Amino acid sequence: MFAIFSVVVLTLVLAVMVGLYQKNTNAMCKSKKRLDGKTAIITGGTTGMGLRIAIDFADRGAKVIVACPYPDEGTSAIKTVNDKTGSENVIYKYLDLASLESVRSFAADIMDTEDRLDILVNNAGVGVIGDFLTKDGLHIIMQVNYFGHFLLTLLLLPLLKKTGKPLEPSRIVNTSSIYHNIGKIDFKNLNKTNYWYKFQIYAHSKLALVLFARELTCRLRGSKDTHVVINSVDPGAVGTNIFYSFGPIRGAIIKFLFYNMFKTPWEGAQTAIHVAMDKKAGEVSGEFFKNCKQASAHWNAYNETVAKQLWEESVRLVTMSDEELNRCFLDL
Ligand SMILES: NC(=O)c1ccc[n+]([C@@H]2O[C@H](COP(=O)([O-])OP(=O)(O)OC[C@H]3O[C@@H](n4cnc5c(N)ncnc54)[C@H](OP(=O)(O)O)[C@@H]3O)[C@@H](O)[C@H]2O)c1
Ligand SMILES: *[C@@H]1O[C@H](CO)[C@@H](O)[C@H](O)[C@H]1NC(C)=O
Ligand SMILES: *[C@@H]1O[C@H](CO)[C@@H](O)[C@H](O)[C@H]1NC(C)=O
Ligand SMILES: *[C@@H]1O[C@H](CO)[C@@H](O)[C@H](O)[C@H]1NC(C)=O
Repeated sequence: MFAIFSVVVLTLVLAVMVGLYQKNTNAMCKSKKRLDGKTAIITGGTTGMGLRIAIDFADRGAKVIVACPYPDEGTSAIKTVNDKTGSENVIYKYLDLASLESVRSFAADIMDTEDRLDILVNNAGVGVIGDFLTKDGLHIIMQVNYFGHFLLTLLLLPLLKKTGKPLEPSRIVNTSSIYHNIGKIDFKNLNKTNYWYKFQIYAHSKLALVLFARELTCRLRGSKDTHVVINSVDPGAVGTNIFYSFGPIRGAIIKFLFYNMFKTPWEGAQTAIHVAMDKKAGEVSGEFFKNCKQASAHWNAYNETVAKQLWEESVRLVTMSDEELNRCFLDL
């Protein structure tokens, strides 16, 4: 009896210590940079970390465009940002990353209506929400987390290039995850369903994002007058709704534990904000950040051959013609 009691108490004490340690080591973005007159797009900027990033950018004076597939979430996000910052300069636009057509029309709309784009945060992401192919023939998780952002980033590149200046490059931030560590790029199965361990697909999508950043950095380095940097972040373990894809009860438990022991969405958003604001972070590209510091991604993320091949496969799978791709690298 006493033994069981001791084990329980010891476990609790340990859990509280781990939690306290985590909470105390969560790094916060220190930059006081203002974003007046600047424009930022945050995919999935309507809830979780994306919403906190939107609030932070609006507070700094930016025009903020949040995008997700649910208009009512968009409306409530705008209200939250208004309430917290007083900013009226927040817009919701419909974007379903699970549809190449939606990505194309969102990008075309932005190119028509915006005259600058300083920051693109590719934050939207889903856990294991299903195991099927979309109407584009891609795996739903891979498409939302990776292929959709791949296409979106390239289509917005002309505007990012136009906005970026030598001392003030425009910035792309991709939200990866610790799970990129167990990701693999299996070219024969980029859109495969029926994995035995479905979480694996999430991991693949997060590794693909890091590889994409590296390859895009390479391709942009060719042109001297391009001032666009692209970096990936690992937010850490954060208590958000993303875990509801594991079911309502498991989701609620994980969210509660992560929120209290690891990071709140506000804390989780800090590294993305840091990478978008910090002066030094604006001087590197293709790099990986966590806890507001540059870090090493898994060695799989540094394989140039794989990055190049993934790029070519991705271009094919998002059905980009050579002509459409070339246009992404032209000056406006
Ligand atoms: N939470 C963690 O511990 C953790 C750890 C590592 C990395 N991450 C990454 O961090 C990012 C943010 O996650 P979060 O934890 O803040 O999750 P979240 O609260 O679930 O937010 C995800 C966002 O993505 C949007 N989204 C979902 N499907 C979409 C689609 N088809 N098209 C466009 N937007 C879509 C959601 O919009 P709706 O709400 O309208 O559906 C929501 O705004 C994700 O990329 C995630 O993989 C999270
Ligand atoms: C699915 O993936 C395979 C292998 O990468 C590829 O040959 C095929 O074209 C893909 N299907 C679609 C619809 O893109
Ligand atoms: C971010 O993601 C996009 C699309 O997936 C990719 O093209 C780009 O290289 C990525 N950038 C980084 C730094 O990971
Ligand atoms: C890159 O990946 C390929 C395919 O997995 C592998 O054959 C090659 O040895 C790797 N290169 C390096 C430098 O790790």
